[in-house]
Amino acid sequence: MEDSIEVILQDFEKVLPLSSPHPLLSACTGALFAGLYGVWSLFTMPGFRKIPSNLKVPYLPSSRDQTLNIMKLLEGRTGRLADLGSGDGRLVFAASSAGFKCTGFEINSILVAYARSRARWTAVPSSQATFVKKDFWKSNLSQYDNVTAFLATGVMEVLGEKLLKELPDDARVIACRYPFPGWPHQSTLGSGLNQTWAYDI
Ligand SMILES: C[S@@+](CC[C@H](N)C(=O)[O-])C[C@H]1O[C@@H](n2cnc3c(N)ncnc32)[C@H](O)[C@@H]1O
Repeated sequence: MEDSIEVILQDFEKVLPLSSPHPLLSACTGALFAGLYGVWSLFTMPGFRKIPSNLKVPYLPSSRDQTLNIMKLLEGRTGRLADLGSGDGRLVFAASSAGFKCTGFEINSILVAYARSRARWTAVPSSQATFVKKDFWKSNLSQYDNVTAFLATGVMEVLGEKLLKELPDDARVIACRYPFPGWPHQSTLGSGLNQTWAYDI
């Protein structure tokens, strides 16, 4: 004979209790996760408190393919380059080895320290690669001929307005993974997470 639904539920509860957990256990689990998140954000997002929540972008390094796409879209270009949110400095190092005079803007002091020590270690001169601990939203970008941005979809529209106001007419902007909404692109490379777009101001 088939079991009634009550019998089935009783058996199920023996394996996976359906009753709510003890409130103290819930509180401890919540506190543990909050603590872990606090420690994680201390390392990945220091300096973020002063940035409005809609403009916060966490650290995520670009992939090798992404970096290669960016460098291909910068072929034939020269001059100064700003990487907005330079992370561990990988895009700045790639661009500086192609002859650009690069500045990496980075809000996370741990990543700035890492990129600077890597530059010293690999003997990249500061005339080729500089890392500044600065909020790029508060920095004037008018001296840059090239800008790279691997940020987040929610900030691209606001960033586009800033760049249109500040960049010289012949500047090129490279957007990684997230395009500028409404901007016509000159070219694009890659697909999916590695897609990269070039825009001439
Ligand atoms: C998605 S990661 C990209 C890192 C690096 N460009 C790369 O391609 O590997 C974005 C970086 O932007 C930094 N960032 C976010 N908002 C910033 C701001 N307002 N000023 C400077 N850096 C910022 C974050 O700390 C993070 O390292």
